[in-house]
Amino acid sequence: MTKQREQILKEFKKKYKLLKKYNYHYYEKDDPKIDDGEYDKIKNELLNFEKKFPFVSKVGSVKEIVGHTPSKKFSKIKHLKPMLSLSNAFSKEDMKDFKEKILNYLNFKDQDIEFFSEPKIDGISASLIYTDGVLSKGLSRGDGTTGEDILENLKTIKDIPKNIKKYNPPKTLEIRGEVFINKSNFLKIKDNFKNPRNAAGGSLRQKKSSETAKIPLKFLAHGFGVIEPIFFKTQSEFVSKIENWGFVVNKHNKVVKNIDEIENQHKSIEHLRSKLDYDIDGIVYKVNQINLQKRLGSTANAPRWAIAYKFSSEKAVTKIKNIIIQVGRTGAITPVAKVEPVNVGGVLVSNATLHNEEEIKRKDIRVGDTVLLQRAGDVIPQVISVQKNLRNKNSKEFQFPKKCLCGANTIKEISKTTKKEDAVRRCNRGYACQFTVKEKLKHMVSKDAFNIDGLGKKVIDNFFEIGLIKEPADIFKLNFDKILNLEGWGKLSVENLKKAILKAKKISLNRFIYSIGIRHIGQENAKTLAGFFGEIKKFERLFLEDNRDKILKNLIELDGIGETQVDSIKNFFSDKKNTKIVESLINHLDIENFSLVAKKGIFSGKNLMITGGLEKMSRAEAKTLAEENGAKVFGSLSKKLNYLVVGNSKPTKSKIEKAESLNIKILNEEEWYKLLKF
Ligand code: IVH
Repeated sequence: MTKQREQILKEFKKKYKLLKKYNYHYYEKDDPKIDDGEYDKIKNELLNFEKKFPFVSKVGSVKEIVGHTPSKKFSKIKHLKPMLSLSNAFSKEDMKDFKEKILNYLNFKDQDIEFFSEPKIDGISASLIYTDGVLSKGLSRGDGTTGEDILENLKTIKDIPKNIKKYNPPKTLEIRGEVFINKSNFLKIKDNFKNPRNAAGGSLRQKKSSETAKIPLKFLAHGFGVIEPIFFKTQSEFVSKIENWGFVVNKHNKVVKNIDEIENQHKSIEHLRSKLDYDIDGIVYKVNQINLQKRLGSTANAPRWAIAYKFSSEKAVTKIKNIIIQVGRTGAITPVAKVEPVNVGGVLVSNATLHNEEEIKRKDIRVGDTVLLQRAGDVIPQVISVQKNLRNKNSKEFQFPKKCLCGANTIKEISKTTKKEDAVRRCNRGYACQFTVKEKLKHMVSKDAFNIDGLGKKVIDNFFEIGLIKEPADIFKLNFDKILNLEGWGKLSVENLKKAILKAKKISLNRFIYSIGIRHIGQENAKTLAGFFGEIKKFERLFLEDNRDKILKNLIELDGIGETQVDSIKNFFSDKKNTKIVESLINHLDIENFSLVAKKGIFSGKNLMITGGLEKMSRAEAKTLAEENGAKVFGSLSKKLNYLVVGNSKPTKSKIEKAESLNIKILNEEEWYKLLKF
């Protein structure tokens, strides 16, 4: 670095820190240390620095701190119903897939299905709760389960009705929607914020609502949480009813009936996009019938009945400088193209994923190639095609490394079920591979696992490089004095990290099981396992070789746990290193017992299994329904079963016979529907 550059960075950093400090005193402490004029002077100096010397952005941007530094001091409130996110679609094919999955789940053959389409506003979601018609709670999304109490700030938004008593609304009405700022209004305040979304988010999370009120925020309603009693049958009906009550809804919403209409609507809104006075990044398609939405339910993070069909991705041409490999948390080796930095739709891209060895072969991607890149939504950019006419004559086929970055040989597994070779090459040394460990640690602190604020991917990379964290347990015995001396850390951030880690020590059994990252054990399976073991002491029995096989045999009974999962659990714990690592982690934690919130219903406390296909619903839906009515659903026959549900389509005869010999009650389809009042 040149001397001058160094000097500039130093100067910028000094002022940047100062502004951050003043900002904190003004917004968090409500105790301004300087007057507005002085504050603006520093701010403008920093902005000029940024314009003139773009390299200072490595320190940070004024836009990240001024004015709107979001407060962390809101009290937390649990959502009446989790606020989920949406799965994404990027093409007509993806949409066909989405529809197909829905029809399969509902076991619809000839019936068609209606969708309600809504432009997807790129804003901040919020939930408004009206009790007897009065706005009584206002929450941010938070982590989806718990939000923050931002009622006072939400009240400053004109679009949000405060009292709707006169319309005689249901006793409890939870309206969900998007807080955003118009593009035109953003232009007026753009010096203070990175983008409109940021402006909305920052303004909404001000400690003083008078600060929020200064920004012209808008609210558009698009959904609901808990409504009692429910007063509509379709999403479209819901939207028009609440519009009559004074909520703002999108005027481009529309009912669509098939894939062609979905595609047309997508195209026509994309066409409109630049003319709209707010940012949208796709269209949300929702199953219109509320009773079908209910039947479809959701997976761990997203509803099955809705999807965000993002607008077509941005593309750009660039050159591959190098192809490197990365190791994932399951040891998967992913090739990554290092490309000449190129601007793809406003984002500077210098890496693109090449997926796996097969993909490189199929597309014949080589170092030095000129390629077409695409970036869709927030996913990692991909190489779509190679411009072979521009290829250098001496270029050579890419030889995929057979060794992991740790030096060990890699393998391609053969799937037990399909007998086919996996497309992905893996290093299977687990915690013995430094590269895998680092990724495992990132998984461990992630949102759905330990969810440790302030311990993101970059921090893990950094702490791992300097040896502060070598294995999971180290997270819970961090040396905070050392961290305080590290670049970029201050008293406040260290204090916050300390708090976040302390909080994370208390963890539910299912999250814990998910966090240790056993292959093939995702959130759903982790929950199933937690339900089976109930408490950590019982789970720990897996660590002892003598018990293991016996326990694993019982796991096969659980729905969703098959041979692949059992083998994976077995492999994981057969490795002494893994057991040791998990044990020492457990020593630092307070792991809560898992009690399947004993759902009350006709199958409470009963074990049930399904054989054969049902006419009116898929197996997946039948399983969910059984669970919602209190049953534990088994995947294989056992004497512990209370019921065997026999579908009309191709049930296994031997299972019925065995059930009969074990005196297990057999339910035919008719009896099943009747019991469930389906
Ligand atoms: S429905 C359970 N509808 O997109 C489904 N979301 O990526 C919840 N969003 O968190 C979302 N416009 O903040 C829905 N018309 C719309 C939306 C919309 C914007 C946001 C919302 C959500 C995010 C999911």
